[in-house]
Amino acid sequence: MVRTRWSKDSLYNLVETELGDSLFIVVSNREPYVHAYTSESGQQIKVTHPVGGLTEALDPVMRAAGGTWVAWGSGDADFDEKIVDKDQRVMVPPPPEESRYALRRVKLTESDVAGFYLGFANESLWPLCHVTFTPPDYREDWWHTYQKVNRYFADSVLREIGNRKAVVLVQDYHFALLSHYLKESNPDLTVGQFWHIPWPDYEAFRTCPWNEEIITGMLGNDLMGFHIRDFCNNFLDNAARVLGAEIDRENAIITYRGNTTEVRPFPISVDFDSLNTQAGMEEVEQEMEKLRKELDLDGKCLGVGMDRMDYTKGIPERLMALDKFFEDNPEYRGKVVFVQAGMPSRTQIDTYKQIGQRIDDLMDGLNEKYGTGSWKPVVAMTRQLSPVTLHALRRLANFCVVSSLHDGMNLVAKEYAASRVDGDGVLILSKFTGAAVEMKDSLLINPYDIGDFAFKIKEAVEMPESERRRRMKNMRAIVSENNIYKWAGTMVSRLMEITGK
Ligand code: F6P
Repeated sequence: MVRTRWSKDSLYNLVETELGDSLFIVVSNREPYVHAYTSESGQQIKVTHPVGGLTEALDPVMRAAGGTWVAWGSGDADFDEKIVDKDQRVMVPPPPEESRYALRRVKLTESDVAGFYLGFANESLWPLCHVTFTPPDYREDWWHTYQKVNRYFADSVLREIGNRKAVVLVQDYHFALLSHYLKESNPDLTVGQFWHIPWPDYEAFRTCPWNEEIITGMLGNDLMGFHIRDFCNNFLDNAARVLGAEIDRENAIITYRGNTTEVRPFPISVDFDSLNTQAGMEEVEQEMEKLRKELDLDGKCLGVGMDRMDYTKGIPERLMALDKFFEDNPEYRGKVVFVQAGMPSRTQIDTYKQIGQRIDDLMDGLNEKYGTGSWKPVVAMTRQLSPVTLHALRRLANFCVVSSLHDGMNLVAKEYAASRVDGDGVLILSKFTGAAVEMKDSLLINPYDIGDFAFKIKEAVEMPESERRRRMKNMRAIVSENNIYKWAGTMVSRLMEITGK
């Protein structure tokens, strides 16, 4: 059957027809809605959205599919009795929107968070999977907490399922062991997992003292998804070399201890239709007007970078390239403004504190070196920006820079294309992102090559309008076609197909 373009409705229909009476469960570490007290008296509670691609991408999927999302309750009001029921469940999205699915929260202690999230997930696995030459720290107590928390989550998922049939989609590197624990307790479950970050090659992965346990845990899945084929191939190699598992390379199937796991690429994306509609709204136009004045953009060219502050994002390299650009092209001093919008992230971890400081120093250095009384080459926006402001910035930006040193996909690149309802704008994109496989009409860079990077900034600033439009049209068509509903829909239908359910 030739399927037409995936949409919210087609995903909804798929879930209705293919899942039948099975419960649909998504598990992730980060929750899509956080409840926090606004005042010390605990009388007022506000709901916020965390920063990050995973929750942004999955919320529309859950709105269409329904079911339960199991996640860590990280807000101080998350377990308030006014908010959750006795099973720690709350229906979301919160009012005034119509609720569409259940969010079941898992409570973690401070020491769980330290060992599981900050420790093993973000100081061991994160640097292990990203090639940024930041050494992983493999501490045994973190590993034990990681195992313990994966068990908690498995218990919570199993309680949510009860005696029902269920299809479980586990998300990311926080839960390498979860699917194995689920299948141990209930072999009839249908379980798939998507790994949102890169998967390393054998030479890197074998440095992890618990590499066997991690791969064995992931082989609890019927289907294992990565963003791109290279990561799938790395995983197949690791399964063969670390565990001696049997590999059918042609069909990308791993057989280990009598169980099979299919390994396939599913490039994640954004809700193109929704971003496209929102970006064209009147309030976005008004915000653009406001920002134009605030940033004094008349007659100037605007560049933007929008990232979670992470050492994988290549923000220092971007600032060094801007320095070289202004150095080599003095005619653009006073004419180009670069806004670096970035939310602080994982700030308890030293490497993140250091990268924050380095970025501040580089920005100050640039502004001191080139700034004048009336013009600053770089402007930092570190507050959490509203969706309207983010759309306005993307729409105003003559060019957007995504310069990750290594990145599973990078949704900022896709959001930029989806927001450009006017069909203009240039994307400068690192070759080391998953997005580079699809977005070939961007200006591709090696972020470590500062000279070429600076040259690409000049190329973006000077690109003729007709070429900008041609490239943007192609990129928008790709993101519109390969949207988030396609990611979820193809993954769920493949999972149902291979498990014969
Ligand atoms: O996949 C990358 C990821 O861990 C996602 O969970 C999320 O999009 C982002 O990074 C945010 O990270 P954190 O949940 O640690 O704030």
